Amino acid sequence: MKGSSVIYPGTFDPVTYGHLDIIERAVAVFGRLIVAVAHNPQKNPLFTVEERREMIRLSLGENPDIEVDDFDGLLIDYLKRRNARVVLRGLRALSDFEYEFQMALMNRKQDSTIETIFMMTSEAYSYLSSKLIKEIAYLGGSVKGLVPDPVAERLRAKFKEGGLG
Ligand code: COA
Repeated sequence: MKGSSVIYPGTFDPVTYGHLDIIERAVAVFGRLIVAVAHNPQKNPLFTVEERREMIRLSLGENPDIEVDDFDGLLIDYLKRRNARVVLRGLRALSDFEYEFQMALMNRKQDSTIETIFMMTSEAYSYLSSKLIKEIAYLGGSVKGLVPDPVAERLRAKFKEGGLG
C-alpha cells in the first residue's frame, strides 16, 4: 500500500466545486492524485470523455501533482493497469453511504488488496450533484458558485446545441 497511487474515479459529467474540493484536499493529504474519468455509457453522459477531462484540467489549472486520465470497463481492471490499490471517494450525505459501501465491498470482493478511502465533502457542497446542475442549466438557471466558469460556459454552449443528453 505504501507509495501506491491514489485514484479518484467518477463520471464528472460535469465536474463541480464539490469534486474540486475533494481533489484539492486529497492532494494536500496524499501528495499526488489520479483523477479518473469513467466513460460510464450507462449514465448517458451529456459531455464526451474528452470534454469532461478538459473541464477538469481547465478548472484545476496547472498542477503537476494531479493527473487527469480516463477509463472504460471495470474500475479494478483500471487500478491493475495503473498499479494502484487505493480508491478515493467523496461522501456528501448519509444517503451516499449505502451505495458507496456496496461499491467498496464489491471492489474488495473482486480484488482483496483494494482499499477505498472516503473524504467528507465540505458542507457548502453537500447538496451539489452533476444531475441537478445540468437540470438548472438546461432550464436557464444560474450555476454560478456551483461549477467553475469554464464548466458553466460549456453547459451554456451544450444546451444551445439542444437536449439534456
Ligand atoms: N460533491 C458534489 N457532488 C458529488 C461529489 C462531491 N464531492 N461526489 C460525487 N458527487 C455527485 C456527482 O456529481 C454525481 O451526481 P449525479 O449522479 O447527479 O451525476 C454523483 O454524486 C455520483 O457521481 P460520481 O462521483 O461521478 O460517481 P458515479 O457514481 O457516477 O461513478 C464510478 C462511480 C465511476 C466510480 C463507478 O461507476 C465505477 O467504478 N464504474 C466503473 C465500472 C465498475 O467497476 N463497476 C463496478 C463497481 S463495484
